[in-house]
Amino acid sequence: MAEIESHDYDVIVIGAGGAGLRAAIESVSRGLRTALICKSLLGKAHTVMAEGGVAAAMGNVYEEDNWKVHFRDTMRGGKMLNNWRMAELHAQEAPDRVLELEAWGALFDRTKDGKILQRDFGGHRYARLAHVGDRTGLELIRTLQQRAVSMGIDVFMECKILRLLSDSEGRVSGAVGYWRPTGEFVSFTAKAVVLASGGVGKSWKYTSNSWESTGDGHAMALWSGADLIDMEAVQFHPTGMVWPLSVRGILVTEGVRGDGGVLRNSEGERFMFGYVADMFRAETAESEEEADRWYDDHTAGRRPPELLPRDEVARSINSEVKGGRGSPHGGVFLDIASRRSPEVIRRRLPSMYHQFMELAGVDITREAMEVGPTCHYIMGGVRVDADTGAATVPGLFAAGEVAGGMHGSNRLGGNSLSDLLVFGRRAGMGASDYAEGRLGDPSVDAAEIDTIIADSLAPFTRESGENPYTIQSDLQEMMQALVGIIRTGSELDTALEKLGELRERAERTSIKGGRIYNPGWNLTTDLPSMLTVSRCVALGARDRKESRGGHTRDDFPKADPEFGKINLVLRQPAGGGVEGDIKVSPEPLLEMPDELKELFEEGH
Ligand code: FUM
Repeated sequence: MAEIESHDYDVIVIGAGGAGLRAAIESVSRGLRTALICKSLLGKAHTVMAEGGVAAAMGNVYEEDNWKVHFRDTMRGGKMLNNWRMAELHAQEAPDRVLELEAWGALFDRTKDGKILQRDFGGHRYARLAHVGDRTGLELIRTLQQRAVSMGIDVFMECKILRLLSDSEGRVSGAVGYWRPTGEFVSFTAKAVVLASGGVGKSWKYTSNSWESTGDGHAMALWSGADLIDMEAVQFHPTGMVWPLSVRGILVTEGVRGDGGVLRNSEGERFMFGYVADMFRAETAESEEEADRWYDDHTAGRRPPELLPRDEVARSINSEVKGGRGSPHGGVFLDIASRRSPEVIRRRLPSMYHQFMELAGVDITREAMEVGPTCHYIMGGVRVDADTGAATVPGLFAAGEVAGGMHGSNRLGGNSLSDLLVFGRRAGMGASDYAEGRLGDPSVDAAEIDTIIADSLAPFTRESGENPYTIQSDLQEMMQALVGIIRTGSELDTALEKLGELRERAERTSIKGGRIYNPGWNLTTDLPSMLTVSRCVALGARDRKESRGGHTRDDFPKADPEFGKINLVLRQPAGGGVEGDIKVSPEPLLEMPDELKELFEEGH
C-alpha cells in the first residue's frame, strides 16, 4: 500500500455547511473525537444561498401558527411524498433550533416588541421565516462556525473526499481523498461517518449552486450500497438572475416576493393570477371546490399568488417565457420598486440591492429585476431514518440536502435552514450513539485505497484524452435541455443514452501538469459523482410517469394517485461501485398515523 497521511476519529462529518457544522457540534459535545471535512473553505457553503430565512412556527407574527400548521404546509408543499416523520420532527423542533442559534449569537431582525421577526414565504400559511435581512444563511453559518471552532472540532479544509471506505462486514468505516492545495492523498478511519455534502446543482447549466455542488455525497452513498430516494425531485427556484449571462442563475431571494415584490410579464400583467385555479385542479384536486379549499389553506386568504410553492411559480414563469411574454433576456420581471419605498428595500434586502447594482447595473429601488428559474436544490437523496439520520448501510448517516425524504417532491423556501438545524443535530446524535456502541477499531481495506488513488491519477497517464471541461459543459447543456423543469419520456431516454456516452468520454480524459491546485484534475475527480447523480435523476424522472412537485412530465401532466403512494428507490447491487448499474424500484411510502392524517381533513 502507498504510504499516505491518515487520521483516526470517532465521527467524521463530510461537508461543512449548516448540517455538517450542526452534526459536528453535537458529536463533539458528547466528548467524541470529531473531524469536519470540507472540499472548500470553511464557511463557503450553499447554506448561504438560503437567504430569506429559516422557517419555524414560533408564532411571533401570527399567534395562530403552530407546528401542526407548519407540518401540514410542508407535506402539502411536498405533494405528500414527504417522509411524514421527518416533516413532523422538523415542524416540532425548528423553533427550539432557532432559539438555540440565537443563544449562540445569531442576530435576527426583530419585531417592534423585541421578538424574532418572521417574514412571508411561498407555501407557508403564516409569516414564519426568522431572518437577518436577506443574509440569513450567512448568519447561520457564521454562528455555527464560531461555535464549532470554539468547541475544538478538527477542521480539514480544501479536502476532496473521493470515496467512502467499508470494513469487511460492510460497515462504513472511513473515507479517502486528497488535499486540493497539494494533491497529496489522505485517509480517515472512523466509527461513524456523517454525510452533509449538500446538493447536485452543478450538473445543470443555470444554477444557484457554486462549484462544490457536484453530488459527491449522493454518489458516494450509492457506491457504498446505501439507498437513494426520489432523485427526480429537483427544485428550480423561480427567481435567479437571467442577465448578464455571466451571472445567470445567481439567486434572487424569495424574500423579495415575501416582502411584497410581484411578478409581471412583458405586457405588465401579474400573470400568476391566471395560473392559480388550473394549477391546483391539475396537481392536487379532483374538483374546483377542493382546489379553492387548497388555495385558501395555503394562503389563509390573504397572500398573493406570487407566494405559491416554488414548483408552481417556476412552471408559470417558464410558460410565460415560452408563450412569448418574457422579458428581453428570457425571464420575467420581478418588481418591488413600485411596491416598497427605497429605504425599506435597502434595509430589508441589502444583498439584492447590492447584487443587482454591482452585477447588472440595475437599481432595484427604481427598476424591476429580470428573473427566471434556476436549479437550486434536490429534494431526493440518501434514504435515512427520520429520528437518527441513519442511512441504509451501517455506520453511515446523512443530513441536510444530501438526505432525501423531508421535502417530498417540492421543498418550501426556508425549510432548508430549519431542516439542516433539526436533522444536522439528529444525525450528529445518531452517529454519536452508533460510534459509542461500536466495538473495536474501525478497519479499512488498504488495497481498495490503492485502487481508488490509482483511478484518480489515471488522467495524468493518458496521452491525448479529452479535456474534462468539455465533458462538464456538455453534461450541463444536456441536463438543462433534457432533464430540466419540463420533461418528457423520449427526451429522458435520449438523456440516458447521452449519459452513457459522457461516462465513456469521462473515462478517457487526460490532464497536463502536476497535482498542486490543478483544477482540471480536480474536475476529473468530480465528474464521476456528477454523472452518477445525473443518471439517478434521469432514471427517476423516466420511471415517475406523472407530474408532482419538482418533477413535471409533459407526457403525464397530472399527478397520479398511484405514484403518490410510492418512493422511487435507487440502489446498486452490492459491489457495484462507480461503474455499477443502478436499479430503480417503487416502494410504498411510510404509513402516516391517523392523528396526523386528521390534520388534512376539513375543519383543521
Ligand atoms: O430564496 C431564498 O432565500 C432561498 C431560500 C431557501 O432555499 O430556503
